[in-house]
Amino acid sequence: MQTSTMKTPASQNSNADTILTVKGLKAKVADSDKQIIRGLDLTINAGEVHAIMGPNGSGKSTLSKILAGHPDYEVTDGTVDLEVNFRQKNLLEMLPEERARNGVFLAYQYPVEIPGVSNAEFLRAAFNEICKHQGADEMDPLEFDDFLKMKLKFLGMSEAFISRAVNVDFSGGEKKRNEILQMAVLSPRLAILDETDSGLDVDSLRIVSDGVNKLRTKNNAVVLITHYQRILNYIVPDRVHVLYKGQIIKSGDKSLALQIEEQGYDALIKEHQTSQETSAGGSLQG
Ligand SMILES: Nc1ncnc2c1ncn2[C@@H]1O[C@H](COP(=O)(O)OP(=O)(O)OP(=O)(O)O)[C@@H](O)[C@H]1O
Ligand SMILES: [Mg+2]
Repeated sequence: MQTSTMKTPASQNSNADTILTVKGLKAKVADSDKQIIRGLDLTINAGEVHAIMGPNGSGKSTLSKILAGHPDYEVTDGTVDLEVNFRQKNLLEMLPEERARNGVFLAYQYPVEIPGVSNAEFLRAAFNEICKHQGADEMDPLEFDDFLKMKLKFLGMSEAFISRAVNVDFSGGEKKRNEILQMAVLSPRLAILDETDSGLDVDSLRIVSDGVNKLRTKNNAVVLITHYQRILNYIVPDRVHVLYKGQIIKSGDKSLALQIEEQGYDALIKEHQTSQETSAGGSLQG
């Protein structure tokens, strides 16, 4: 009988498959004392999909913006490491554009409009930045047009997206689909999608979910911030986390999302508060 399993090279190095490691993260609004993230731990491995849920105002978008390097927030404690070329690098020391070049992609909850710049120009500039960083040949407009058409076809999206100004006069659902197009073009290592499912009709939800599923590989990871378990039927998460007042108060598998849909957050919040009171009582006594 075989009693031991062979170790793969990946399992010999516990960090080999880890894309992102967040430890004890605390962050506040840059120009005030307002604390938003209050001690957060999160580890994301290659090939995984993590869903982050939680009540309004719990810090989900703030967390995503901090990871992307948004200047509105200041990290006051903790560490964030990103795997770059098999090495763990301090994400917090990187400029926002360096994070993007190293594969961090954020689809904003409220996508930004860029009047006067076509989707094709915008995407080509972003794509060529990454090519330059990787020492690959940049694409000229004609080559890129073909590449973009291929991506649109792959995602089942209309070619009308190419020439329109970035997100200008797009409907809410079109903006969300456009984020998936950006993701398809940039092939991020870590894609953070902030409520990309909000406001989508059934067909758009299908396009967005199918798109994300097609873009998933064993080498990248996706963080889905969502209020609804519905999208998790299409993009099945490996882990579901509940964020509350800037902390992850519960993590589980996809059944946690179903539980939240049926019971809401109240029971989880009470459970968390009780455990905090117990540990505070314990430390007072001890
Ligand atoms: N730049 C800022 N200045 C002041 N307060 C901020 C700022 N950014 C976020 N906040 C506050 O931090 C808290 C968390 O906001 P955040 O947008 O991260 O919540 P969320 O979990 O994404 O909520 P929702 O589910 O509604 O999108 C809120 O109380 C919000 O008002
Ligand atoms: Mg939000």
